Amino acid sequence: MSVFDRIGQKLLFTFDPETAHGMSIAALRCGLPVGARPVRDERLKVSLCGLDFPNPLGMAAGYDKNAEVPDALLGLGFGFAEVGTVTPLPQAGNPKPRIFRLTEDDAVINRLGFNNGGHEAAEMRLAARKGRVGIVGVNIGANKDSADRVHDYELGVSRFAKYASYLTVNISSPNTPGLRNMQAREQLGELLARVISARGSASAQPPIFLKVAPDLVEAELEEIAAEVTEKQIDGVIVSNTTLSRSELRSPSGAGETGGLSGKPLFERSTIVLAKMRRLLGPERAVIGVGGVDSAETALEKIRAGADLVQLYTGMVYAGPALPGRILAGMAKFADREQLTSLRGLRDSRLSEWAAKPL
Ligand code: FNR
Repeated sequence: MSVFDRIGQKLLFTFDPETAHGMSIAALRCGLPVGARPVRDERLKVSLCGLDFPNPLGMAAGYDKNAEVPDALLGLGFGFAEVGTVTPLPQAGNPKPRIFRLTEDDAVINRLGFNNGGHEAAEMRLAARKGRVGIVGVNIGANKDSADRVHDYELGVSRFAKYASYLTVNISSPNTPGLRNMQAREQLGELLARVISARGSASAQPPIFLKVAPDLVEAELEEIAAEVTEKQIDGVIVSNTTLSRSELRSPSGAGETGGLSGKPLFERSTIVLAKMRRLLGPERAVIGVGGVDSAETALEKIRAGADLVQLYTGMVYAGPALPGRILAGMAKFADREQLTSLRGLRDSRLSEWAAKPL
């Protein structure tokens, strides 16, 4: 980390995490030069689901919940940015404080509960950037008090299909009571069928990805993979935050309710990713997220079966130069190994990762 980044991070860490987050969004919105110059490298390109990603590293959902700064995120070097989760109606989320830094673990616990400005506000911003280059995915969810949560996802597909490079169906946040139950086979089957049908009636047909939790057992993964295959969902994002608190060093924050992200999530989310790749086969898209904070951790997700990777918590600790650093590290790796593309790396450690117990 450069001296400049270190000072910036120290300053942000004097504020509570949610204020610091708001400040970083404001800095990006103002166009402050907070990142490194993006790396452009042919060897990092990925073609997937009809989309041409300039590199395999994306900003995960939850950072830019209201689609305020997708282009600024792409400007930091990210090959794609996922905005959301957006719900049909604006929602305040849970009472504050609701984000906690676990500094000794390079981790975060959040129980935000889908605080966001709703579909209409996000649509206005996305409509204003329509026609600009850059891959921007829209992550859709359901309102906490919705009488028909499946319908909320249908509304998300209908509303955002024409603006989104891809759509993510997020049923894996631990902070909306009952949401994760939608991962159970029968409910999932109905949800995916209705989401696919809504896309069929929309004016554009972007790929649809399903975002899953890391706290699933083998039988649940098998059921999800079977439904994804049957309903022809384009890919799976593995994973959201975890409810597990195993092997944490930070004594204080570990007791907080919510989803844990960052370094301690890396191992579990990578095992689930590999198992999901095994179940889905080589053709379907799999996106790895959880604990990526370096070129090495990003490359390891690809070796375990990921086509693309995403991060969030890594940037909380390393600052906005992180994507540029990871991409430079990937390019250096390609030099050292004399690779013409990183694609050949995918699945090279799939067996090892998939064999690990959950
Ligand atoms: C998240 N994440 C998240 N995911 C999602 O699908 N919708 C969301 O609204 C949010 N919100 C959110 C807020 C905060 C503060 C954090 C830290 C995370 C989960 C995120 O996209 C990612 O899946 C996990 O954080 C794991 O990746 P990292 O953070 O370990 O790189």
